[in-house]
Amino acid sequence: MILVTGGAGFIGSNFVLDWIAAEASPVVTLDKLTYAGNPGNLASLKDDARHIFVKGDICDRALVARLLEHHQPEAIVHFAAESHVDRSIHGPAEFVQTNVVGTFSLLEEARAYWSQLAEPAKSRFRFLHVSTDEVYGSLGRDDPAFVETTPYAPNSPYAASKAGSDHLVRAYHHTYGLPTITTNCSNNYGPLQFPEKLIPLVILNAVHGKPLPVYGDGLNVRDWLYVGDHCTAIRLVLQQGRLGETYNIGGNSEKTNLDVVRTICTIIDGQRANSAPHSKLISYVKDRPGHDRRYAIDTAKIESELGWKPREAFDTGLRKTVQWYFDHMDWVASVQTGDYRKWIETHYSARQ
Ligand code: NAD
Ligand code: TYD
Repeated sequence: MILVTGGAGFIGSNFVLDWIAAEASPVVTLDKLTYAGNPGNLASLKDDARHIFVKGDICDRALVARLLEHHQPEAIVHFAAESHVDRSIHGPAEFVQTNVVGTFSLLEEARAYWSQLAEPAKSRFRFLHVSTDEVYGSLGRDDPAFVETTPYAPNSPYAASKAGSDHLVRAYHHTYGLPTITTNCSNNYGPLQFPEKLIPLVILNAVHGKPLPVYGDGLNVRDWLYVGDHCTAIRLVLQQGRLGETYNIGGNSEKTNLDVVRTICTIIDGQRANSAPHSKLISYVKDRPGHDRRYAIDTAKIESELGWKPREAFDTGLRKTVQWYFDHMDWVASVQTGDYRKWIETHYSARQ
């Protein structure tokens, strides 16, 4: 049994579905079901005895203690977080609460549980913390990519709260010996991503002929990691990663935002041959405050130690992603609630 936090969100649900398909051990998913969590992401596991869903908050220590005691997991894979930079600028408090206090609560309960385990369960136990490359700050155009020893320099409230959680995880290994591993990955894309993030937002706006909002000059660079590749990497790190280590995970696909948006437009143009070019919808809007210019990941450590490489090329991954959204408009409708529409309206009307 493994305990997955945040398993109803984008990466967490891809991970749970992947795990159940590939591994023998069952999964307990703990998720608060915030606006970003959708139990429908795991609907295909409804009748699968190897999956249990628990609605709850990682900050609820009594609940976490009960789950650990009852299910005796051999690992915790920790995805639960507030994850959207723009929302962290509008309201940072929730980010500190879930990402810092929530991770602290989980670490405390994991420590209490792990301390009383007998061998061999104690040596086998793992706490895998999923984090982001944004903790390293922003790179200049010609700077070398982030390595695991790059100093932390988080710039947004989101990145700072994730950095805080990473430091706590590190300290729990260093001080208490808790068997932790941290992964820092680049921007994920793929099926089931909530449409507030760049790629699904642009796909859906393009389909509906709405403006495609590009912040600033559109030349900010991100590295794009296909979510399926990320899930494979996390499974490998969990099974073979060295305790107390951190591993950077990236897609070897650095792109400007403008490149990303234009590529999506070209893919959709190909599918809707008689419409005007979708790139005509590109609309430059006010930049994000403190917008990091470039992220890039050096994957040498995970490649050499664990033999992992991203398999999906950006072009094929993006085509699959566009197709997934085209084929799942019912899912899209189910997540575009009143709250979602309010966010889009408030956030983008302030940027015109
Ligand atoms: P997401 O926002 O799609 O999902 C987060 C999930 O956590 C949701 O299901 C939500 O309901 C749940 N959650 C939030 N607060 C909770 C709480 N207090 N208790 C229990 N559950 C709670 O996020 P994602 O994109 O799937 O990201 C997963 C993890 O990966 C996060 O830790 C994020 O920081 C990290 N990460 C994401 C990306 C990316 O590109 N999406 C990149 C790097 C790192
Ligand atoms: P996002 O998906 O929010 O991820 P992150 O900020 O964590 O990297 O944004 C990816 C990039 O796209 C980032 O540079 C901000 C930019 N962006 C836009 O230009 N327009 C948008 O509407 C959004 C949501 C993001």
